[in-house]
Amino acid sequence: MKVMITGVAGFIGSNLADFLISRDFDVIGLDNLGYGVKEQVPEGVDFHCVDVRSKDIYTLFTGVDAVFHLAAKNCISDCQDNPVETADINITGTVNIFEAARRAGVRKVIYAESSAIYEGSSIFPTPEIDTNPHSFYAVSKVSTAYFSEAYRRYYGQNTTALRYFNVYGPRQDYRRTIPPVISAFIIAMLQGQRPVIHGDGSKKRDFVYVDDVNEFHHITLKDNRTDGETYNLGYEKNYSVLDIYHELESILNTGLEPIFKDDLPGEAQENLADISKASKLGWEPKTDLRQGLLNSIEYIQENVLPTLVEI
Ligand SMILES: NC(=O)c1ccc[n+]([C@@H]2O[C@H](COP(=O)([O-])OP(=O)(O)OC[C@H]3O[C@@H](n4cnc5c(N)ncnc54)[C@H](O)[C@@H]3O)[C@@H](O)[C@H]2O)c1
Repeated sequence: MKVMITGVAGFIGSNLADFLISRDFDVIGLDNLGYGVKEQVPEGVDFHCVDVRSKDIYTLFTGVDAVFHLAAKNCISDCQDNPVETADINITGTVNIFEAARRAGVRKVIYAESSAIYEGSSIFPTPEIDTNPHSFYAVSKVSTAYFSEAYRRYYGQNTTALRYFNVYGPRQDYRRTIPPVISAFIIAMLQGQRPVIHGDGSKKRDFVYVDDVNEFHHITLKDNRTDGETYNLGYEKNYSVLDIYHELESILNTGLEPIFKDDLPGEAQENLADISKASKLGWEPKTDLRQGLLNSIEYIQENVLPTLVEI
């Protein structure tokens, strides 16, 4: 089976490529390397450096059986500052992927929405039905759900939407303007620097480990019950930013206190996934927070810190 991954040089895309290659899938990938890093693209991927909005992508979809569309502009504060570019990459880019898949007769398109779609929800855990997007990023993601539905309705295109909560693990992007909290804290603390908390640290997030997410990716390829459906992917347990700091400090014993800075615009106070729909397919996230943090620390110690020292 030949699988296309967009955003293959990014965090989830590169981990998914590893996962699929280890199971003998034929993997082709594209990325414009805007945020992603070429060195992260696993060996064995037929890699193309191209933008998802380009018409040049169409020929790459010939002979592809399934697509994972992960490329996106996804730093919420960057998206707040650049609504036009957010819409261009996240909406136009996604429609261009649906179009490329339709033209090539690709059997299935699995694409990334986001838990940000539930920003305005007050139901916790949040089921798939309770969408309430506020930020430009969330609005761009929810718009793709309507295009996906229209592609299904008018062209019979088979799509599956994945609403990731806070995915973490090796290769999580630490280079962006506001890096994700887990990689940012680990890198700071391992370097003897105080971790920065935006706001008072009470915001709660549902963190799910990338290997567990890959198990669900595998289910979407094998199980026809996922056709035309939307799934929350989280751990169904949430932790505050301060909890993450304390958990890391209990492992690393640095004695470093956090620095509190201004809160970030556009971020929800809490998220928590209702994963009962995905669980009905036999999916169960297995990696608890402590194990996921230990794995992340090991990765950063071996792969990230040496490159930072060189700089
Ligand atoms: N990581 C999470 O916790 C999380 C949560 C919710 C949703 N998501 C969604 O999952 C997907 C993957 O997220 P990630 O964490 O791996 O992000 P990432 O930033 O690590 O990877 C995204 C990749 O897309 C590429 N890209 C961006 N714009 C592009 C363009 N115009 N053309 C081609 N490539 C482009 C980037 O270079 C990058 O390599 C995204 O759609 C994101 O919105 C992620």
